[in-house]
Amino acid sequence: MLDLGTGGGLPGLVLATYRPEFDLTMLEARQRACRFLREAVATLELTRVTVVEARAEDAARRPDLRESFDAVVARSFGPPAVTAECAVGFLRPGGRLVVSEPPGDEERDTADRWPDPGLTELGLSPPAPGGGPGASFVLMEKTRADDRWPRRVGVPAKRPLWTP
Ligand SMILES: C[S@@+](CC[C@H](N)C(=O)[O-])C[C@H]1O[C@@H](n2cnc3c(N)ncnc32)[C@H](O)[C@@H]1O
Repeated sequence: MLDLGTGGGLPGLVLATYRPEFDLTMLEARQRACRFLREAVATLELTRVTVVEARAEDAARRPDLRESFDAVVARSFGPPAVTAECAVGFLRPGGRLVVSEPPGDEERDTADRWPDPGLTELGLSPPAPGGGPGASFVLMEKTRADDRWPRRVGVPAKRPLWTP
């Protein structure tokens, strides 16, 4: 799996610690955060974890990373449209995107934040909410490959496919 925008280590370091049998790539653009993550990986002796220092929009075009993951996880990466567009290129068809969500009125919030037409455009299924009070997430499945996504660095945030 790939953790999109790991920052200081969430959820990547937690997942790697609890499920050391998983191959995990932690993707992060900031050099300083990546230095910390590499140190943490070495200290915790996480042998199946790789840190990739790159912008997601670039990394998703790398042949060794494109459509190479069964799952992408993200927490606080950005607005839903940005997260979905930056994540989708890493997923193989059938792979799943799991995004940590703020707790709230799940039904209403999920439909507003993750609208079906935008997700369909990206090749993602309608969102399935999960979790419970204080620990909610949405899960989407990649239904088809689409070479258009992600757009160039900065474009997903500058011209998001939708706004909640
Ligand atoms: C608000 S932080 C969240 C970090 C961590 N996931 C957490 O929950 O604590 C967002 C992180 O995503 C990274 N990020 C944002 N856009 C990115 C992009 N396009 N490519 C790679 N990393 C990105 C930022 O550098 C930052 O470390």
